[in-house]
Amino acid sequence: MTYSEQEQSLSREPRLILITGGAGFIGSNFVHHWCQHYPEDRVVVLDALTYAGNRSTLADLEGTANFRFVQGDICDRPLVESLLREESINTVAHFAAESHVDRSILGPDAFIRTNVVGTFTLLESFRHHWESRGRKETDRFLHVSTDEVYGSLGPDDHPFTETTPYAPNSPYSASKAGSDHLARAYYHTYGVPTIITNCSNNYGPYHFPEKLIPLMCINILLGKSLPVYGDGQNIRDWLYVGDHCSALDVVIHRGQPGETYNVGGNNEVKNIDLVNMLCELMNELAPHLPVRPAQKLITYVKDRPGHDRRYAIDATKIKTELGWTPAETVEGGLRRTIEWYLTHQDWWQPLLSEEYQAYYRQVYA
Ligand code: NAD
Ligand code: DAU
Repeated sequence: MTYSEQEQSLSREPRLILITGGAGFIGSNFVHHWCQHYPEDRVVVLDALTYAGNRSTLADLEGTANFRFVQGDICDRPLVESLLREESINTVAHFAAESHVDRSILGPDAFIRTNVVGTFTLLESFRHHWESRGRKETDRFLHVSTDEVYGSLGPDDHPFTETTPYAPNSPYSASKAGSDHLARAYYHTYGVPTIITNCSNNYGPYHFPEKLIPLMCINILLGKSLPVYGDGQNIRDWLYVGDHCSALDVVIHRGQPGETYNVGGNNEVKNIDLVNMLCELMNELAPHLPVRPAQKLITYVKDRPGHDRRYAIDATKIKTELGWTPAETVEGGLRRTIEWYLTHQDWWQPLLSEEYQAYYRQVYA
């Protein structure tokens, strides 16, 4: 079979897909992407509904014949094993994680448990399931990871490639690095068809308020100060979440087991420039701001410990081997995102709970 014939046959394979962390930010965007593009496929979401998970994000899919939501923990091996078996799962897209760096500094335990032990539990359960299915060639285990595992770049360093050595600097990135190594080992040791993706900073709808972009948008709307860590010169490579979903789709259908693909937007922006762009867009798009112009709210605060200076992704491999490129520009994506936060206050208002305020005081006091 030629490569393209194989690709076509892979594309036609009906997917019975288990999506972990599907009630979180990227996971829920991916669930919507998959259900829209492949309505004939079966989608099973497994999510523990931690503070970051929100079942209401998937409300439009409840009751759909090919969709099932299961509240549960990826560390619960009997549950994972029974779901894989009951649903004859042939594809896992693994998003579930503790994902916020600042929370990993305050309390790393949950990060080790979910990101390392949880990933191990999924891999080990999937290995036995896959073996019992006769080691099907078209089955896939997609492990969704981060560029943070590569550490921090200097101003003139080449962006991260798939062969950049791992050098994680936070408990979060160290736990993700551990999970990446396990996913790799399961391919090399047992032949489990794992694929790893390492992606840069995402933004877009359903992003939890603790992260930079939603936090700034919401604080502007509430007239609260905009806390910029350190000197604001740290650089992130921003990717619209819809582009991340299309990259993962391509990787599931055309990616090679055992491989790693870096995913990025080729959009390096300094934090302070990004915050200024958000302020400009808010000044333009929001009719009633408590403080105008929003730039007046910018406040430099104590830096994040171990704060990585610069991330940037070299996405040549996924572009040349799988034909993926991002569709959205930063300007277009930020505008879409702000419009979404302006029109979906009913989604984010309830997330500013007492628990969230307590977290906020701990980080920003
Ligand atoms: P998120 O924090 O918004 O969502 C995580 C989801 O996982 C939540 O729904 C939560 O309830 C669920 N979850 C947590 N612990 C669980 C457990 N033990 N069992 C089952 N479910 C559990 O995270 P996100 O930003 O959507 O990130 C998703 C994945 O993508 C993560 O693995 C993250 O490392 C990776 N990633 C994120 C970014 C980014 O910019 N956000 C970039 C690259 C990679
Ligand atoms: O690079 C991918 C990673 O991007 C993902 O793996 C993580 O799950 C995701 O949370 C994100 O990590 P960051 O730490 O880069 O994202 P965050 O939104 O927390 O911060 C972005 C930048 O903004 C970072 O340099 C820290 C800074 N920042 C953040 C917050 C929350 C501030 O200056 N002020 C803030 O209040």
